[in-house]
Amino acid sequence: MAAGARELRAAFDGAAHLVAYAVKANSAGPVVRALAAEGCGADVVSGAELSVALACGVPPESIVYNGVAKRDDEIDKALSIGILAIQIESVEEILRVAARVRTLGSPRAAQISLRINPAVAFDVLETHANIATGHDEAKFGIARDDLPRAFEIIRSSPEVQLVGLGHHIGSQITSVAAYRTAARTLFSLAAELVGSGVTQGASRGASRGNAPDKLRFLDTGGGFGIDYGAGPAPKPGDFVRAALEERNAADLTDTPLLIEPGRSMVAPHGVLVARVVQTKASTVRKTARRWLMIDAGMNDLMRPALYQARHRIVPLDTNGASADFTATLWRVVGPVCESSDDFGVHALPDLPLAYVAILDAGAYGFTMANQYNGRALPDEVFLRGGVIVATNRARSQDEWVAERVNIVG
Ligand code: LLP
Repeated sequence: MAAGARELRAAFDGAAHLVAYAVKANSAGPVVRALAAEGCGADVVSGAELSVALACGVPPESIVYNGVAKRDDEIDKALSIGILAIQIESVEEILRVAARVRTLGSPRAAQISLRINPAVAFDVLETHANIATGHDEAKFGIARDDLPRAFEIIRSSPEVQLVGLGHHIGSQITSVAAYRTAARTLFSLAAELVGSGVTQGASRGASRGNAPDKLRFLDTGGGFGIDYGAGPAPKPGDFVRAALEERNAADLTDTPLLIEPGRSMVAPHGVLVARVVQTKASTVRKTARRWLMIDAGMNDLMRPALYQARHRIVPLDTNGASADFTATLWRVVGPVCESSDDFGVHALPDLPLAYVAILDAGAYGFTMANQYNGRALPDEVFLRGGVIVATNRARSQDEWVAERVNIVG
C-alpha cells in the first residue's frame, strides 16, 4: 500500500501536488496512518471521517471535505480545524458556509473550493451508472450553468475565500481518455477564472473582509479503476500524467494538482475471507445447478449486490488435497435473505473446501458493511510484511441482539 502511494506520488514527477486519499474507501486506522505517513492528505465526507483523518496524522491543511449535505455542526468542525477546503457542491452551500462563519464569529474567511459537475455521461466513463457522479442527473457538484451565480456570491461574501476548483466524475473509471477530457474542461474553466483576476499559487488563509481569491489547487478527483479480474486497467499514474499534461497545456503550471483516489490505493490490498458453510446441488428441468454457500454475504461486501460487481474468488484451503484439482463452476452465494446476495459463478475445485477468499475487498468492503439479518460485522485483520499487526473485532451478533432488545418502548 505504501509502495503504491509512493509510485502514485512519483507520477507527479516533481510537480506540486496533493494526494488526498478518499477515506470512505477504507477508514481503518492502520490504513489511514500508513497513507498519511507517505505524505497523503485526505478527502473526507463526514465529520466522523474528518476526525479519523486528523487522529491518524493527516495535517488539517491537507484535508478536503466533500459532500452534498454537510450538517452545520460538520461545517463548524471543518471551520474550527482550518482544513484546506470545504468542497462546495451547490450555490446554496456557499451561503450556508458564509452564515456559519458569521455565526461562529470566525476571524478568518472559510477556504472553499467549488466542485463542478462537468456533465459527463456515465457511458463515456465505462463504469456502472450507480458510481458515476458527474452527469446531468447527479446530485453532486455545481452545474456549469449555475457557476456565474456561484462566483457572484463568492465575490460578494467576505466570509468565504475561493481556493480551489475541482470535480469527481465517477468511480472505477477505466478510460484515461475520459478522465483527460473531463480534466481539460475543468482546466479551461480554471484558466478563464485566472484570466478574470484570480491568481494562482499557494497563499495563506486570508482574514475576513480582505480575502483575495487564489487558486491553491485544481482537483481532478479520484475514480481510478482497478482490475477486478476482467482485464488490465490503466495504472493510477496514467491518470495523473494525463491530468498533468492537460493542466500544463492550459498554462496553469503554477497551480498544484490535487487528486482524491480511494479504491486504487487500497482495494487490491484486502481480501474477504469466508468459511464455506455447505454446498447445494440440484437439477432443475434437467439442468444441473450448484451453489457454494459461504458465511460472508452482501452485508459484508455490498459491491456485487449494488453494482453487479464481480470479485475474483479463490480457494484458501483445499483440506490438504493437491492443487491439481478439477474445476467446477459454482454459484457462490451468502446467507442473507436476498436474491442479490450472490457473488457470481466461479470456477473452484470440486473438493470439500473450507475457506475461500474474495479478492480486492480492501476498498468499499468493511466501510459499507452492515448488520442486516442480524449478522456480525466482519472482523478485520491487518498485516504488514505477512505479520498480523492489528485485529479489530467489529461488532458481534451478540452485541447486535443486545442493542435491539435494549430498545424498550
Ligand atoms: N472523491 C469523491 C468526491 C468521491 O465521491 C469519491 C468516491 C472519491 C473521491 C474516491 O473515488 P475512488 O477513487 O475510490 O473511485 N462504493 C462504490 C464506490 C463509491 C465511490 C463514492 N465516491 C464502489 O464500491 O464501487
